[in-house]
Amino acid sequence: MDKTNEYLLKFKGYNFGKSIVNIEHLETMEDFEIRDDDVFIITYPKSGTIWTQHILSLIYFEGHRNSTENMETVDRAPFFEYNIHNLDFVKMPSPRIFTTHLPYYLVPKGLKKKNAKILYIYRNPKDVLTSFFHFSNWVVTLEATDTIEHYLEKFLDGKVLGSCWFDHIRGWYEHRHDFNIMFLSYEDMKKDLRSSVLKICSFLEKELSEDDMDVVVKQAAFQNMKRDPRANYNNVMQNEIGARNKGSFLRKGTIGDWKRHLTVEQNERFDMIFERNMKKIPLKFIWDINEE
Ligand code: A3P
Repeated sequence: MDKTNEYLLKFKGYNFGKSIVNIEHLETMEDFEIRDDDVFIITYPKSGTIWTQHILSLIYFEGHRNSTENMETVDRAPFFEYNIHNLDFVKMPSPRIFTTHLPYYLVPKGLKKKNAKILYIYRNPKDVLTSFFHFSNWVVTLEATDTIEHYLEKFLDGKVLGSCWFDHIRGWYEHRHDFNIMFLSYEDMKKDLRSSVLKICSFLEKELSEDDMDVVVKQAAFQNMKRDPRANYNNVMQNEIGARNKGSFLRKGTIGDWKRHLTVEQNERFDMIFERNMKKIPLKFIWDINEE
């Protein structure tokens, strides 16, 4: 542990949510034994994590697809670094699905054997920032910020859970050849969920019938997920996290909400920083719902 404040715990240069993390677990994470058929969902916070947890739960578990089993996605695809329900990861049946916000250098070393699969979901960082600003003001476990201007400073300085967005995505992209990883954007999922699910299935080597595919796509749609107690994290909010006011993990679920929040000046500043940090990263970003 190198540093701590009221909300964040800095471990090996990376900010964890202090109230939900266990230091002993952090210390053993890198040596955690990986199975060849493990799957990791990796995201920077607010990039579509719970959406992907739900999609993979629907793909992998028939009982989730046909709603005969009432297991929450947070237990189907638990967070690796935040084991809030104290699951025994070693006893979980294969294939195990884990979810994590970890940077590339803190994940279990066994992922470098390249058999286990990693699905990295990324989102345009102006929408990440906007979503994170609202989220941090909503949950009691994160520091609230009065204005987006102040939040922008914190976000750019990496003084938030998950540390610096640029470091996270660059780190994963630049080290992609060390892992069996597929990158997919939130915006691609939003614009064409069906072909995104097909891409995910092809990467995971899972074949679904047309009917099953219809169910996955239908149940993973924003409004359906918002209503689904297995997928909307309402129980986690009530029992493990806690809210300052009314809200939901599934807030707007759109592309381009940042336009309602950033001033022209803030946006230009962000663009400059983005340009400087991302010029060697050829990932495609979609900033607007109408963009092709
Ligand atoms: P907004 O706050 O912009 O609405 P994470 O799960 O990584 O914390 O990300 C949360 C963001 O993903 C929220 O963004 C949430 O609304 C959005 N999201 C969750 N499920 C979604 C879905 N089915 N379709 C579109 N967006 C979704």
